Amino acid sequence: MEILDPGSPMALAEQVSEAFVAWTGRGAEAVVRAPGRVNLIGEHVDYNGGPVLPLALPHATYAAARRRDDGVLHLRSDDPAAEDWSGAVTDLAPGAVDGWASYAAGMVWALAQDGLTLPGGLDVHLTSTVPTGAGLSSSAALLCAVGVAVTECLGLSLDDALRDRLVAAGVRAESEMAGAPTGGMDQTVSMHARRGALLLVDFADGSRTPVPSALEAAGLALLVVDTRVSHALTDGGYAARRDATAEAARLLGVPHLAAATTDAVETLADEEVRRLARHVVTESARVHETVAALDAEDWSGLGRLLDASHASLRDDYRVSCEELDVTCATALAHGALGARMTGGGFGGSAVVLLGREHLPGVAAALETAYAERGWRAPHLLLAEPSAGAGHC
Ligand code: GLA
Repeated sequence: MEILDPGSPMALAEQVSEAFVAWTGRGAEAVVRAPGRVNLIGEHVDYNGGPVLPLALPHATYAAARRRDDGVLHLRSDDPAAEDWSGAVTDLAPGAVDGWASYAAGMVWALAQDGLTLPGGLDVHLTSTVPTGAGLSSSAALLCAVGVAVTECLGLSLDDALRDRLVAAGVRAESEMAGAPTGGMDQTVSMHARRGALLLVDFADGSRTPVPSALEAAGLALLVVDTRVSHALTDGGYAARRDATAEAARLLGVPHLAAATTDAVETLADEEVRRLARHVVTESARVHETVAALDAEDWSGLGRLLDASHASLRDDYRVSCEELDVTCATALAHGALGARMTGGGFGGSAVVLLGREHLPGVAAALETAYAERGWRAPHLLLAEPSAGAGHC
């Protein structure tokens, strides 16, 4: 089975620059990239004030941009499903833009709210190798690519403080302009990831710690399996869990649910809320155990933590689905050390930890398992920890 190629960053930067010239007749001022992400562990924990452990994918969104002087924002993507969009910068507002452009234009709007405004307007051409709707943060990659392009056009240096402003603007754009509530993990890792490392982000205090990955040296790989079951954060299941867990924190008298103890959680009267809260608290503990397992190079222990995370998301948080459960079970039956759903859930992708020698066998078994059930073949990609957003 084919593995989705992230493409060469240099070739993709050249491709988007050339497309920009063909479109506008002028050279770009900024050519930038921002990666998608896969979360190794710490799911549905960011908006509950706990730790997460994602990594940036080599698959990224590339943007070429140049300022205009007529106050108009022009957006073009070479995704055939995305129509060109244009409108006055001053007309950008929540509710004014639909579809994919609500993310890209939303970022321009959110940055303007933060004082990073381009009153003369902007042309932006985009291309991406991040699969969409796969739970791999194609939206965060798009937001961050547009954000970095804007700051490059403004001549700003992309230091940590500016990266943090782009994260905040990305969260605001996604929530307020695209109507997709998000906890901040995706934008944080897209902006701050380091090549060769996972990124431990603790939403209790905002701290970020790169965690070097020895997986490759140990002959292991992280295989991402896109079930191709559509995942959309705008569907309501995400928001409902967010509200319920915020309510649980209020009932327990803690600032964020991740700060609650397992004993306290078991006192919650409502069974549904108790199960959601149990996931958040146990998942937060698993993130710290995962960092310890990575440090100790305890690969079977790491695999067991991924499995436990999946069971908790399936049984307590209830955001898995049959395709994700079959994917994890099939991978485990064919030599994987651990497997779990990743991202928001309700479809999207699973992440599988396995020895590289098991890749062909697991890929073939997945193909068969999907075909037997009449499902479209999954898409596969390899999660090699990549650098965060920047210019090309
Ligand atoms: C989506 C959100 C993130 C996070 C995950 C679940 O990807 O955008 O902020 O909440 O779901 O862990």
